Amino acid sequence: MAAQPAPARAAGLDDVDVAGRRVLVRVDFNVPIADDGRLRDDTRIRAALPTVVELRRRGARTVLVTHLGRPRGQVDPQLATAPLAQRLAELLGAPVAALSDCVGEAVEGAVARMEPGQVVLLENLRFHPGEEANDPAFADALARLGDLFVNDAFGTAHRAHASTVGVAQRLPAVAGRLMARELDQLGALLAEPARPLVAVVGGSKLSTKLALLENLLGRVQALCLGGAMASTFLLAAGSGVGTSLTEPDAVDQALDLVRRAATLGVDLRLPTDVQVAPDPQAPRDRIRSVDVRAIPADEMLLDLGPATVAAWRPLLADAGTIVWNGPLGLYEREPFAEATRQVALAILAGRATAVIAGGDLAAALHQVGLLERFDHVSTGGGATLEFLEGRTLPGVAALRRAGDPTLAAPIAAPSPASVPT
Ligand code: 3PG
Repeated sequence: MAAQPAPARAAGLDDVDVAGRRVLVRVDFNVPIADDGRLRDDTRIRAALPTVVELRRRGARTVLVTHLGRPRGQVDPQLATAPLAQRLAELLGAPVAALSDCVGEAVEGAVARMEPGQVVLLENLRFHPGEEANDPAFADALARLGDLFVNDAFGTAHRAHASTVGVAQRLPAVAGRLMARELDQLGALLAEPARPLVAVVGGSKLSTKLALLENLLGRVQALCLGGAMASTFLLAAGSGVGTSLTEPDAVDQALDLVRRAATLGVDLRLPTDVQVAPDPQAPRDRIRSVDVRAIPADEMLLDLGPATVAAWRPLLADAGTIVWNGPLGLYEREPFAEATRQVALAILAGRATAVIAGGDLAAALHQVGLLERFDHVSTGGGATLEFLEGRTLPGVAALRRAGDPTLAAPIAAPSPASVPT
C-alpha cells in the first residue's frame, strides 16, 4: 500500500484508555536550579499538572521522565530529579517517588509494583548518552516502562532524542494536554491569526533570530524590533552604536530583512530612541534616553526609550494577535526592564490575543509581575522558536506518525499483561 501522509493532528489523551495501565510520560521539567539546589522557577512543572492530574484521576500508573540541564551522558548529582519530584508532590498534594535511574531492572521492578493512581519521576534521562543519541537499545529500555507513551514535553519537541522520538516509535503514543494546547494555540496563531498580526521580537543576538524573523515577515502586518539585537539593525542603517553589543557579521542579513519587509509591505519598527549608559552596572544618574542617531561613542544601548514605546502603542492597541519573543532590554538590571514592562502593559490594555514565547521573556515578565496576565505563555524556548519558524518538530512528527494507523499499531491497543486483574 502506498504510504499515507501522517495525520495533521496527533492523537491525545481522549483517544486512549489509561486506567490501570503503565503510562510513560515525557515531561519537560528542565527548570532553572540555583547553586544551593533549589528550583528558581517551577512554571514548567505547573504546566504539566493538567496531564498528571488527569492520569491520576483516570487510574493510570504514571511514570514521568524528563531531562534536566545538559550533563552530556554523565551522572551529575547537581542535576538529579529528586527536587523536581518534591515540588511536583507539593503541587499535586500527593506523593511522587523519585527513582534513582530511568532504565534498568530495578526501575522496571519499581514501576511494576506501582498501584493505579500512583506517580513516580525517573532520574535524569541525560545521565545516559543513549538519550541524546536516540540509541535504539536505550529507547527499548525506556519503552519497557510503559504500555502507552504520552509526550507532554513541548519544550523538548525540537530534539530527536530517545525519549521524544525513539519511544514514540515503540509504544502507542499520544500527546499530553500541555503538548496539545501548545500545538493548538501556536498552530492557530500561525494559521488563522486575528489580524492585524503584530510580532515583537527582542533578545540579544540577531543571528539566533534570523530564521524566526524570516518566517514572521511572511505572515505579520507589523514587526517591532528591540533588545540588543536592534543595535545590529541600527549599525546596518549607518547609526553610531557606541559600545553596544552588535554582530557586524549579521549586518547584511539585517539589511536583507529591512528590504524584504519593505517589499512585503510589513510595517517594520526599529527603535527611534534608546536608554544608554556607560555599562550595565552604571548608577541610575548615568542612565539616559537618547535619539538613536546620538548614541555616545563610549555608551551602550541597554533598553528602548520612551518615544519608541509610545510610537508602538497604537499598533499594539489595534492588533488582533501579538506574538512576542525576547525581552526588549537588559531586564536582569531593573532599570532596563522598563520597556519590556511598558510594552507588556500596552498589550494587556489592548484587545489582542498575545502569545509569550521563550524563557527569557517569560522570566522578564515574571520579574515585572505581569506574566500571569497573558493569554498564552509558551513553555518552549527553542521548540517554540522552531515551531514559529515553520519547522517540523521531530517529537511532534513522531507523535503524528504514531497516530497514523497505516504506520503504527492502533493507539488504543490494550496491553493485557499490564492491566491489573
Ligand atoms: C529547553 O529548555 O529549551 C528544553 O528543555 C530543551 O533543552 P535543551 O536545549 O538542553 O535540549
